[in-house]
Amino acid sequence: MRSLSQEPVPREELLKQIPGKSALFCALTEKIDSEVITRAGPQLKCIATISVGYEHIDLEACKKLGIRVGYTPDVLTDATAELTMALLLATSRRLFEANRDVYSGGWKPWSPNYMCGQGLKGSQVGLFGFGRIGQEIASRLLPFKPKKITYTARNKQPEVAKKVRASYATFEEMVSESDVIIVCCALTPSTKEIFDKSAFKKMKRNCVFINTARGGIVDQKALHEALKEKQIMAAGLDVTTPEPLPINDPLLKLNNVVILPHIGSADIDTRIQMSHVTALNILAALKGEKMVAEVQL
Ligand code: GLV
Repeated sequence: MRSLSQEPVPREELLKQIPGKSALFCALTEKIDSEVITRAGPQLKCIATISVGYEHIDLEACKKLGIRVGYTPDVLTDATAELTMALLLATSRRLFEANRDVYSGGWKPWSPNYMCGQGLKGSQVGLFGFGRIGQEIASRLLPFKPKKITYTARNKQPEVAKKVRASYATFEEMVSESDVIIVCCALTPSTKEIFDKSAFKKMKRNCVFINTARGGIVDQKALHEALKEKQIMAAGLDVTTPEPLPINDPLLKLNNVVILPHIGSADIDTRIQMSHVTALNILAALKGEKMVAEVQL
């Protein structure tokens, strides 16, 4: 086993090493499907992922075999909300495009329209997903004085929403009325590629689209088209399909897109806490105790 490497474990190696193990410490880069789980053997008690998302784990197979699943919510909420704000500002105020001009010789003398973006003040921001991360993003948006914050989620949460001055919007309302859309929900069968061609068509032309959740929530071809045709103003993506995004991907040819390499929780303290929680989840499961954070199967 490459014990000191931080690289994703190659699948063949995972399949070779898993038989006989009682617990698995994994990341979102490893697909933990029924092949891996059954290959482990009946002593496998726990799968603990160092991530808040767990769509890479076959939960049905875990449930059937009585395997407990641990994950790392809460500890990464602030880091992810912070990165979302950074990406939003970088995208709406065109920071990377402007910075490229400085280094490429494209920096023009000050002029009224040069590198004009769109401020948050007075804007309508739609959050798609209103869990821990969505709520923290909303509270970080408030000092920027948006006109309105809406949230779109499976359940209405009036009490929590009131604290961050957010109101509920349907998916249709959110896509057609927002100046900024922020995707911060889990990837599930019902959110998979929900942002498709028809959703992008309904968006305002000045819409800034931000995704710090999962690439799979977006039909990336449709997003590319919307950006290229200027149906929307810009996109900021911390997540893509696939990851890493190949260097020749058409999205990388556009000026109105900012792409980051999935660094939402990449803050040192946060990553240390995520490692601790993952290890504690495993220890608790092995002892038959309550895990710090367990997926309800
Ligand atoms: C990161 O994307 C995570 O799920 O923790």
